[in-house]
Amino acid sequence: MILVTGGAGFIGSNFVLDWLAQNNEPVINLDKLTYAGNLNNLLAVQNDPRHLFVKGDINDGALLAQLLAQHKPRAIVHFAAESHVDRSIHGPAEFISTNINGTFSLLEAVRAHWQALPEAERAAFRFLHVSTDEVYGTLGPDDAPFTETTPYAPNSPYSATKAASDHLVRSYHHTYGLPTLTTNCSNNYGSYHFPEKLIPLIIANARAGKSLPIYGDGQQVRDWLYVSDHCTAIRRVLESGRTGETYNIGGWNEKANLDVVHTLCDILDELQPKATGGSYREQISYVADRPGHDRRYAIDARKIERELGWKPAETFDTGIRKTVQWYLDNDAWVRDVQSGAYLTWLEKNYTARAEQNTEA
Ligand code: NAD
Ligand code: DAU
Repeated sequence: MILVTGGAGFIGSNFVLDWLAQNNEPVINLDKLTYAGNLNNLLAVQNDPRHLFVKGDINDGALLAQLLAQHKPRAIVHFAAESHVDRSIHGPAEFISTNINGTFSLLEAVRAHWQALPEAERAAFRFLHVSTDEVYGTLGPDDAPFTETTPYAPNSPYSATKAASDHLVRSYHHTYGLPTLTTNCSNNYGSYHFPEKLIPLIIANARAGKSLPIYGDGQQVRDWLYVSDHCTAIRRVLESGRTGETYNIGGWNEKANLDVVHTLCDILDELQPKATGGSYREQISYVADRPGHDRRYAIDARKIERELGWKPAETFDTGIRKTVQWYLDNDAWVRDVQSGAYLTWLEKNYTARAEQNTEA
């Protein structure tokens, strides 16, 4: 079996559902269930004997040791993290705790377990660390996309903590020989995406008749990858990636934020026209920029294509349409995550921004 951390979050839950749909190998799913973790994402496998959910913290070394000794997973896929840049600006402490200390605690537990394995199992073992393109910093409009050798230059507390975790993983391979793999992926979108991130937030706000907040001038560029494509890439790296290596994963879909928001409005205009008439575009509102906002990310994903034969199956046009349709079909899921804690976050992040916008 494999052990997944953070498998109740956006990408982790998509990965667990995909994994169990593709093969019969069981999954232990360790997740702390922070605001971002949601067991409703896993309803389809809640009674599946191949899925064992454990509520727990990756900082809990005793729990990790017990899970590893009891279940003897052949691989770890490490998703658990604090993942939202804006939250890292409001409060970096949780990011240090989970992304750095938590990854360290996981590496220590896994090292102890791995070192005691018989030789053949030690050789076959894998630790796959799921990371982000944000560790590379920001690009100018004409710069070449990030490759696996681009120097790290993280600019937010989130990306700095992910960079630190990448370095720890690298050092455990280099120093102890732990068979690690690291993936650095661009912006994911798709089902079960928590509606504080751009795409699901815009869909939710548009449908609720609220304003659609664009940070700064909306010309910041992200590369977008449909989440199922990310899951396929991770499976491919786990199967055939070379240990000690890193693989960049991207969708070859660079888009300015404003264009993404326009696309979402246009699809909603078509699939669920406003009862009052007019376009959802009329709800767009420019608000104060994110401090330290990275201008552009772009991924050169040729290494994973060349070495492992992976490339994305979805274009942005196909993936974004599926995503909007998923949100239209899953109102109950959206309503459920829009709890009191979610409303508190919206107030914390957007009230000050709106005030700054009025003064501008
Ligand atoms: P998410 O915030 O949706 O989910 C994170 C999950 O980790 C949640 O289920 C949460 O409960 C769990 N978690 C948090 N702290 C924990 C702890 N201390 N112990 C155990 N579980 C804990 O995140 P996501 O968007 O699914 O991202 C998953 C991973 O992929 C992260 O490592 C992130 O850095 C990386 N990544 C995300 C994207 C993206 O676009 N979302 C892109 C590239 C890489
Ligand atoms: O690049 C990979 C990263 O993508 C992951 O490592 C992160 O975990 C993930 O959250 C995502 O980070 P971003 O900061 O790029 O995603 P977010 O959805 O928060 O923002 C996308 C862009 O949209 C970014 O330029 C900020 C902008 N934005 C975001 C929000 C929430 C707005 O203009 N308005 C908003 O209200």
